[in-house]
Amino acid sequence: MTVLETTRLKYEEIKPNIGARVLNSKEELLSGELSADIRELIERKGVLVFKQVHFTNEEQVAFTRTLGTFMPEGEGEDVFNISLDPKLNANKDYLKGSLFWHADGTMNPLPIGYAILSSRVLPTWGGNTEFCNTYAAYDALDEETKAKIAKLKVMHAAWNSVFYYEPEPSQAYLEAMMRIGNIELPVVWTHKSGRKSLVLGCTAHHVVDMDWVESARLLNGLREWATSEPFHYAHEWEVGDAVMWDNTGTMHRARPYDPDCGRLLVRTKTGGEEPIV
Ligand code: OGA
Ligand code: MN
Repeated sequence: MTVLETTRLKYEEIKPNIGARVLNSKEELLSGELSADIRELIERKGVLVFKQVHFTNEEQVAFTRTLGTFMPEGEGEDVFNISLDPKLNANKDYLKGSLFWHADGTMNPLPIGYAILSSRVLPTWGGNTEFCNTYAAYDALDEETKAKIAKLKVMHAAWNSVFYYEPEPSQAYLEAMMRIGNIELPVVWTHKSGRKSLVLGCTAHHVVDMDWVESARLLNGLREWATSEPFHYAHEWEVGDAVMWDNTGTMHRARPYDPDCGRLLVRTKTGGEEPIV
């Protein structure tokens, strides 16, 4: 008789609506045998934490490849250094917006699918990464609000996020950001699975065809709701931790940190599998 043994996913819940800690070894993660179970779990929990897994860049890339279509970070770059050190990251302006709630790649036809960050250098102060589950936040809305927002569209623009971190930008900078363009997206994303999530974040400028005061009230109220305690998880980093999020059903942000401390996180990601509709 042949005894067959498959690797099982081992995890513990962090909060009912968001977060699970995966307890398997690095070798088990890299084997690829857990990828279907990981995808199933993250769809429910939004965020998975791999404590003290200590991925090298190569291992993080290999693990990411087991989860979907690997998406390089740039020309010949498999990973992206989240760092304010110009030697490690040539485009640090890009990180200013990451201090405010967002999902990655909202402006692209296909926003990214999964993202993984791993910690290499800790901040001296601040610098937690916070997440919220926008599937759970949608599900818990009252029926009246669900009906009210069902058909709404929002104009999103990268330049809107400029005003979060630079309230009086130079005209040249604003116009450069405006060249990225605008996009109209539904507030409620109906996924292929039939599940629904909220599409918000610091790129959300206004609700199309709605009075501007009403629009600001609605978008801010939904953001406050979606990021409130039941749907929220803050990750306090230790070197060697990796955190993965489902970018299609969560938002995230970095908390402020000492800009000179050398905080370094390494990011990898997979391509999105469905447009926001
Ligand atoms: C990102 C991001 C947050 C952080 O990598 O997309 O938003 O804590 N990072 O640096
Ligand atoms: Mn981000």
